Amino acid sequence: MATGDVGNTPNANLWRSIGPVTELSKRQCRLIHSALGCNSDVCLFFIKGEFFALAARCAHAGGPLYEGDIEDTDGLLQVFCPWHDYDFNIRTGKSQTGLQQEVHEVKVEDGIVYVKHASLLSLQPFPPSSKS
Ligand code: FES
Repeated sequence: MATGDVGNTPNANLWRSIGPVTELSKRQCRLIHSALGCNSDVCLFFIKGEFFALAARCAHAGGPLYEGDIEDTDGLLQVFCPWHDYDFNIRTGKSQTGLQQEVHEVKVEDGIVYVKHASLLSLQPFPPSSKS
């Protein structure tokens, strides 16, 4: 039986296939679109050979975390929101401000990257009609 991005149970956190490691490892950060709409989009990071995923919209006021600066300070990986410069730990989603960014589990199997999420995910935006 097929698994991965085949999910007909709405809002269940399932493993969603994103794409091949060979492609997704070419960029340090990219936006992954959610079928639930932009508030559920994901920011996929590839840093030092590891993938991480956070919610793409900042927990503070919805800024585009996928456009933030990434810093590695002695192994502490952080992304800084471009709107108000709040820091978020890329592994834990925690900010020194006390905010918590949603973290999504990521796994690699057979050269494919999967992210656990409540909706289908895609590298391309979903047409508006599929967001319901
Ligand atoms: S919206 Fe991200 S720090 Fe304010």
